[in-house]
Amino acid sequence: MSRILTGIQSSGKPHLGNILGAILPAIELSKTKESLFFIADLHALTTTKDPKKLQENTLATAATWLAFGLDTSYNILYKQSDVPQVTELMWYLNCITPFPMLANAHSFKDKSNKLSDVNAGLFTYPVLMAADIILYDANIVPVGKDQLQHLEITRDIAKSFNHIYGETFVIPEAKIKEDCMIIPGTDGQKMSKSYNNCIHILENEKILKKQIMKIHTDSKDLDEIKDPDTCNIVKIYKLIGDPKNCKNLEKKYRNGGFGYGHAKSELLDLILTKYNLPRLKFQELMDNPEVIEKELEKGAKKANQIASAVMKKVKKNIGLM
Ligand code: TYM
Repeated sequence: MSRILTGIQSSGKPHLGNILGAILPAIELSKTKESLFFIADLHALTTTKDPKKLQENTLATAATWLAFGLDTSYNILYKQSDVPQVTELMWYLNCITPFPMLANAHSFKDKSNKLSDVNAGLFTYPVLMAADIILYDANIVPVGKDQLQHLEITRDIAKSFNHIYGETFVIPEAKIKEDCMIIPGTDGQKMSKSYNNCIHILENEKILKKQIMKIHTDSKDLDEIKDPDTCNIVKIYKLIGDPKNCKNLEKKYRNGGFGYGHAKSELLDLILTKYNLPRLKFQELMDNPEVIEKELEKGAKKANQIASAVMKKVKKNIGLM
C-alpha cells in the first residue's frame, strides 16, 4: 500500500512557502491515499528554546493543516513527540550513519554558518528526519525543493539498514510540486522561518499588512514604468493570483502611474479574499485549542499503532528481540 507522509517544524508559524510548497500539495495527495502529516516539534527544539512559543507554534501548525481542509477522518495528523519510538529508531539509525554524510549536508553547513547555537541536534537532524519517514513505511514524501538532500540521506540510510540487517524499510521518494519549488520571501531569498522574510497568510490583517509592506523593491517613483519580471511583489502575486489578474497587474507596471505601494495593497487584497475561509477557520481553531489537541490525540493513537508494528520488525532484525 502506498503511503504519503510529510512534516513541518514548529519553529514558527507556517508561512506561504510551507503552505504552497508542502501543505496544499500534500492535502491534494491525501484525497487519494491514507496520509500521515506531523508537526516536527522535536526538530524545532534545535532552534527554539522558548516552551510557550513552541507550544503556540505547534498548535498553529496543526491549525493550518485543519484550516486548509485536511480530512482527519481517514488521514493522520499528529505531533512528532507523541510517538517516542521515533527517537529510539533514530539511535539505531545513528549507529549506521557515516559521520561525513552529516558533516557535508547543505542544511547543516548553512545553519552552522548562520546560527550562534550550533548544537548536536542540528548535526543529527537528518537522521531524525529519516526516522520520521521510514518508521511509517512511507513511500511518498511531498516537500519543497530545500528538503531534497534530506530525502536523499533518508534513502541512503534506509538502503544501508536493509543491506546490513535484511529487508526492513520501504525506500521513500520525494514529491516536489514544480511550480512551488522555492517560494521567495519578502527579501527575494527563499522564504524561511530563520530569515525573518515570511508572509503568514493566516495572520491577522495588521501583521499580514506589515509583512507585505516589507517586500523589497527598487526605488522607482510612482509615475515611472516598472519591470514586473524582476519585482518580488509580482513574483509572490503570481503564485496565488489567477492568470487574468496577474496579466492586469503586469500591465499596470508597464503603463506607469502605478506605485509599489499600490501593488502591495493589491497583493494584500488578493490574500484576504482568496484565503478568507482558511483564515476564519484558523482563527476559530486557535480560539479553541482543545479542538486542535483532540485531533492531535486521535492522530497520535493511530500513528503509534503503525510505528509499533514497524519497530517490532526493526528490533527483531537488529537482534534486540
Ligand atoms: P520546514 O518546517 O522548514 O518546512 C516545511 C515544508 O515546507 C517546505 N518549504 C518551502 N517550500 C517552498 N518554498 C519555501 N520557501 C519553503 N520553505 C519551506 C519545506 O520544503 C517542507 O516541505 N525538515 C523539515 C521538516 C521535517 C520533515 C520530516 C519533512 C521533519 N521530518 C519528514 C518531511 C518528512 C523542515 O524543516 O521543514
